[in-house]
Amino acid sequence: MGLGTMGAGIAQVSVTAGHETIGREVTMELAKRGRATIERYLGRAVEKGRMTADDRDAALGRLTLTTEVPDLADCDLVIEAIVEELDAKRELFAELDRLTRPDAVLATNTSALSVSEIAAATERPERVVGMHFFNPAPVLPLVEIVRAERSSDDAVRIAYDWAEQAGKQPVRCNDTPGFIVNRILIPLLNDCVRVLDEANVSPEDLDKAMTNGAGWPLGPCALVDLVGIDVHVHASEALHTKLHEDRVAPPERLVRMRAEGKLGRNSGEGFYSYG
Ligand SMILES: NC(=O)c1ccc[n+]([C@@H]2O[C@H](COP(=O)([O-])OP(=O)(O)OC[C@H]3O[C@@H](n4cnc5c(N)ncnc54)[C@H](O)[C@@H]3O)[C@@H](O)[C@H]2O)c1
Repeated sequence: MGLGTMGAGIAQVSVTAGHETIGREVTMELAKRGRATIERYLGRAVEKGRMTADDRDAALGRLTLTTEVPDLADCDLVIEAIVEELDAKRELFAELDRLTRPDAVLATNTSALSVSEIAAATERPERVVGMHFFNPAPVLPLVEIVRAERSSDDAVRIAYDWAEQAGKQPVRCNDTPGFIVNRILIPLLNDCVRVLDEANVSPEDLDKAMTNGAGWPLGPCALVDLVGIDVHVHASEALHTKLHEDRVAPPERLVRMRAEGKLGRNSGEGFYSYG
C-alpha cells in the first residue's frame, strides 16, 4: 500500500524475492511513478552485473498496479507504507480488514506511530504487526518486526519469515516508541550535533572523531546529511512527543538549518556542500 519512497522499495524487495505483488496507490500516475523507480533500480542492477536482464523482466512482470483496495482481497501479506498519519493508516487498516482474507497478515511500515493503535482499527489485531524497513529498502538489510499488544505469534513468525526469505536481516521487538534503531540513533545523533556547539568542534572534526575514535563507518554529520535534516528533525519531534526526553528533541542548530533550507545531500547543502 503506497508506492512512495518506502513502498516502491518494499515492492522491489517483494518482486525480486519472487512474490506476485500488487502495488496500490491513490492515482495510477503515482503508481506508475513507483514502478518507474523500481525499473530504474533494477536496470542499474543489470548494468552492474548483479542481475540478469531476464531476471529483471521476470521481477517486473510480478508487479501489478492498482488504485483499488479490493484488488488486494487474495493477498497473504499486506505491507502498508502510506503517509505517516495515524487517522489515514487507521482508516486504511479498517478497509483492509473488511476486504482482505481473514487469515492475511496486515503489516505497517510506520516509523513513529503505535502499531497497537493502528491494529485497534481492525477486528483482527492478532493479524497486525509492524514491519519497519530502512531507507533505501532494497539496500539496507534490517527489518524490525514489531509485535503489537495483541499480535499473535503466528503473524510475527509470518512477517519474520517473509523478510528472511527476501534476503533481509529481520529482528523482533515490542511496540515501543522508536522501536530499536531510531530509539537509539535519534538521541545519539542529537547529542553529536549538540557537541558541535558545546565543545566548539567543526563537523569535519566531529566526523573524524567518531569514525576514528568510535569506529563509526560514517561520521554523524555526514549521516544526518544523508538521512536529510528535515527527515531527522521530523523524526526527533515525533519521538519527543512520545518520550518527553530532552535529548530526543531536535537541537536548535538542526531546526535552524531546516528553516534555511539546508537539508543535507538532497538540497545540495547541509553540514557539507554537495556539488
Ligand atoms: N522515508 C523513510 O526514510 C522511512 C523509513 C522507514 C519507514 N518510513 C515510513 O514509511 C511510510 C511511508 O513513508 P515514505 O517516506 O515512503 O512516504 P512517501 O510520501 O514517499 O510515500 C507515501 C505514498 O503513499 C501514498 N498514499 C497515501 N495514502 C494512500 C492510500 N490510502 N493508499 C495507497 N497509497 C497511499 C502517497 O500517494 C505516497 O506516494 C511512513 O509511515 C513512514 O513513516 C519511512
